[in-house]
Order: sequence, then C-alpha cells, then structure tokens
Amino acid sequence: MIKSPRGTRDLLPPDTALWNFVEATVRDVFRAYNFHEIRTPIFESTELFARGVGEETDIVSKEMFTWSDGERFNEKRIIDEWLRANQSDDPHQVQAGRVNVQGNPSFLAKLKELGVQLQVWRGIQVQPSLLTGRVEFVAFGPRVSSDAIIGLRKARDIAKGEYSHEFGTHTILPRLVVPDEAAKTSPWVATGDVEIEGFAGNYFSSSESLTLRPENTAGIVRAYIQHDLGKRGLNKFFSIGPMFRRERPQKGRYRQFYQIDAEVIGPTSSGSERPIRDAEVLEMLDTMLRRLGISDFTLKINSVGDAQDRAVYNDALRKALDPVVGRMCSDCQRRAVTNPLRVFDCKVPEDQPIIETLPLIRDYLGPASQEHFENVQALLKKAGVTFELSPKLVRGLDYYTRTAFEFTHGALGAQNAILGGGRYDGLAELLGSPQPAPGIGFAIGEDRLVMALQERMPEATVHVDAYIAPVGEGMNREGLRLAKDLRRKGLVIELGDRSFRLKKMFETATKIGARYILIVGENEVKADAFALKHMASGEQVTVPRAELAKRIAGAEKGS
Ligand code: HAM
Repeated sequence: MIKSPRGTRDLLPPDTALWNFVEATVRDVFRAYNFHEIRTPIFESTELFARGVGEETDIVSKEMFTWSDGERFNEKRIIDEWLRANQSDDPHQVQAGRVNVQGNPSFLAKLKELGVQLQVWRGIQVQPSLLTGRVEFVAFGPRVSSDAIIGLRKARDIAKGEYSHEFGTHTILPRLVVPDEAAKTSPWVATGDVEIEGFAGNYFSSSESLTLRPENTAGIVRAYIQHDLGKRGLNKFFSIGPMFRRERPQKGRYRQFYQIDAEVIGPTSSGSERPIRDAEVLEMLDTMLRRLGISDFTLKINSVGDAQDRAVYNDALRKALDPVVGRMCSDCQRRAVTNPLRVFDCKVPEDQPIIETLPLIRDYLGPASQEHFENVQALLKKAGVTFELSPKLVRGLDYYTRTAFEFTHGALGAQNAILGGGRYDGLAELLGSPQPAPGIGFAIGEDRLVMALQERMPEATVHVDAYIAPVGEGMNREGLRLAKDLRRKGLVIELGDRSFRLKKMFETATKIGARYILIVGENEVKADAFALKHMASGEQVTVPRAELAKRIAGAEKGS
C-alpha cells in the first residue's frame, strides 16, 4: 500500500468541515479589517528564503525542501551559433564547405514536427545554374537521442517519397548537432546514415534552485516589490495555504502544514511603521480567535529592536558568549560567530542554563524602539487586548525588527505556539526594494488552531435534510429530478439508487443522519405526492411535490 509521505496528512470529512468553518470565519474577520487575499506560488527561488528568513535559521539551514530545476538546453543559441560558423556569407551563392538555409514552407513545417530544425544546402556553385553538393537535414539537441535520429531518418524518407520531385536527384545527409561534451559522452556508436556532430560551446542555462515555501512572508514581500505595490499605499494582505518544513513530525508538527497569514506593508509615507498598525494587527488576532471560540490563549510580546539596536546587542551577546560558548553545542558555537541571536533557538537541554544568563535585548533598545514599543502597549491596553511581556522572545526568523509576538494555547502540548509574527521593517530592502517598505504580519498555524477547536467540539455536525429513496423501475430519474429541485431550493439532499432494497436505504439514511427519507415510487409519481418520513419520530405523511421543500425546511427549524 502506498501511504502519504511522513509528516503529511489527508484531511478528511467530517474534519474538513471544521477547516472550512475556520477559513470562512477568518475571511469574515479579514473583510471587516479591510484585508485582501493574495495568492503567491507554492515554490519560490531558494535565494528568497536564504536572504529573507536568514541562512542561519533552523528553517533555512535544516528544514527546507529544495531542489535544482535541472539544466535547460538553449536550442536557439546553439542554432544561431552553428549557423554563424557554417552559413554562407552570400545567401544567394553557395560557397565551398558552407551552407545555405532553404526549404519550401510546407516541407519545413513537416521537418519541425519531426524535431528537425533546418534544411540546408551544402556544396559548391560550379556555374550559376549548376550546383554540386548535397542537401542536409539538421536537428539540434542536448544529447544524442533515438528520438532525434528517428526524426532525421523520417525526414529523409519523406523527402525521397512524398517530395521526390524536389529531392529525387540530390544526396541527402541527416545531421544531428549536439554540444561537444554530449557528443563525446554519447553511448551511441556511429549510425552511418546520420552524421553526429559535436559543436563546441556551453548551451545549457545554469540550473535554478527552487524551494517549497516554508513560510509566506518572504513570498508576499517579493510580490509587493515585483508588482510595485507600494504605489497603492498601505497594503493589507491575507493568504491561506500550505507551507513545507522538513521537521521531525509529532503532534501539531507536520512537514506539510497550513498557515493563515496576514501582512500589512507599504511605503513609510503610508504609515506602515506606526504603532497603530501593530496594535490593529494584534487586536484583530484577539478578535479572530475569540470569534472562533478560542479564549484560553496567551499573547506574548517583545521588542527585538531596530537594525542599530541589534548591532549593539549582537556585540554584547558575542562578548557574553565568548567565555562560555566552548561548553555549548556545535550549532551555538557557529551561531555565536555568524548570528548570535539565533543562540536563543537552541533546544539542547545542557545549553539552557547558559542561555538563561545571556543579556536581554530589552536592555539594548534605543529610544526610538523603546517609544514604539511603549506606544504599542498603551494602544493594546486601550483596545482591551491582554498581553504578557516576554523578554526572551526573539522568534526563529531573521527578518524581525521591533514588535515580535506569539500566541500560545494551553491545550496544545509541546507545540503550543498557535501563531507567531512581528514587524519586519528592513525585509523589503533586503529583498531588493528600491524604497523602504516597513511591514508587520503574522501566521496562524491552522493545523494547531483546528486542533484547539477539536478539543472543544470533537464532532463536526453533519447535516443532511433528506435522503431520497427511489423504489421501482424508472424511479432513479424521478429521484434525480426531485433531488435537483430540492437542492436548488437550498436543501441538502442525498440520493439512493433503485437497485438498493428499501431496508438498505433506510439504514443509509440513518447512518448519514438524514432528517427525512423521501420515497419515490410509481404511485407517488402518478399522484405527484410523496411519502415523507421523519426519521427521528417515525411519523410519515404524504406531501404534494410543490410543498415538499417547505415542509422539509420548516421541520428542520422545528427539530
Ligand atoms: P512561524 O512562527 O515560523 O512564523 O510560524 C507561524 C506558525 O505556524 C507557528 O506558530 C505554528 O503555529 C505554525 N507552524 C510552524 N511550523 C509548523 C509545523 N511544522 N507544523 C504545524 N504548524 C507549524 C512564520 O512563519 C512567519 N512567516 C509569520 C509572520 C508573518 N511574521 C510576519 N508575518
């Protein structure tokens, strides 16, 4: 049996109903806060994450699904260069050893279909009307392949058959041109009737490294820069979709997981860097979680300072680490040199007592960062959003500046961070934006959010208004017609099959939780009135077709 890969899951009904409920609710909240959906690719250039999230982070250094897009053969370039090396200087005059490109359009089209790019004449012009030499069909490829050779042979056969009036008296040579290296390493022995030519030069464009997105902030900021969205002023985006990290799977931690992401980004003039934006985002999250029915969460916030503060703090960290780092894990020893802040991501238990003693960023905040952070806190208090200060919170991604936050939820166990986010004022410039574009955002772990909801409402309710049971010859089409009418009126209908016994249809109706079973038999169709049985009470009535929908829907409210 082929199973889903490690760390991935199939989301099945009825659980998917809960996922849909979550997504519909957050979309509703996003609408009220004027956030708009953005959809970016599932994979991006590896460099985007290396630069954006940071080389030294766990995500980039250990967890990305990365592959090389392979080498691409540049067909146009090899054709152009081959022609430059071989073509006659005078298109009307054939010269010794050189070629003139020719061919009638319909034959050339046939050649193309066979993967043969050129028909050339190679020879010497003895007199204006007398040519000696031969016709060549030339195919270009990345390597010697049977397809290319078969195509060339077919081209020659067509020329000698269908087009014998043109080619009958000429010698035809099929030629396959491949890059020199490919010709040398070809396993093909000379085929005799097809000339294999190795042509010097590099005709492969360099391969591109691609990565399944481990997060979506970098992709959204890339899109912001690529489409010059700064000209719109302040952008408020949201996106919902899968992310990929090669982590060790456990409860609440998957290799394919889903994030509900939101980003507020714009030029400085749009107010994107003002504390009101931080407070708005955090208040929206508070509202969103409560709307979903989650209230036992804790919001933890910290300021990780701006670029200047971080430079000073990194120095202080390096100094503090210097005498102790020798006793720490090899990752920390490397981080101490390259990116000391990442020491806080260390999970090695023996290193924790040392990490406890390290200086805290809050003591290195400059006046601007300090004031920004105080403003955010004051606004949150005014908005009635409860939070805790968490001076050790630095987040596992390099792009954060100033406000950083996480929401944790008690019921989730070890993986208790239900969402995380913060400000990333320098990210756009780091990714090549000509203008500064401060931003703030978050990503909710949707898998964890759904898990927290399942704690509260384990069974998603399935709701089917009626099960239609066709009984007897020709009744399937009557059932189908009736189902269509009732569904159009907004009812949820399941349809049986006349080959089932009535008993089986009753059992199915019970199993799927249908409120009613509706019998469609010959007599009912004749009378245009149907037996409608209420499953819970067993009460059965005959209802005219025109009143069915009203009857089923009305009872739904009552029951
Ligand atoms: P993050 O903290 O790496 O931040 O991820 C955000 C949330 O995604 C986590 O709090 C967690 O709930 C969920 N999550 C992460 N990894 C996994 C996993 N392997 N399995 C299940 N859930 C997981 C970011 O991704 C940032 N881009 C957030 C952000 C947006 N910052 C600014 N804007």
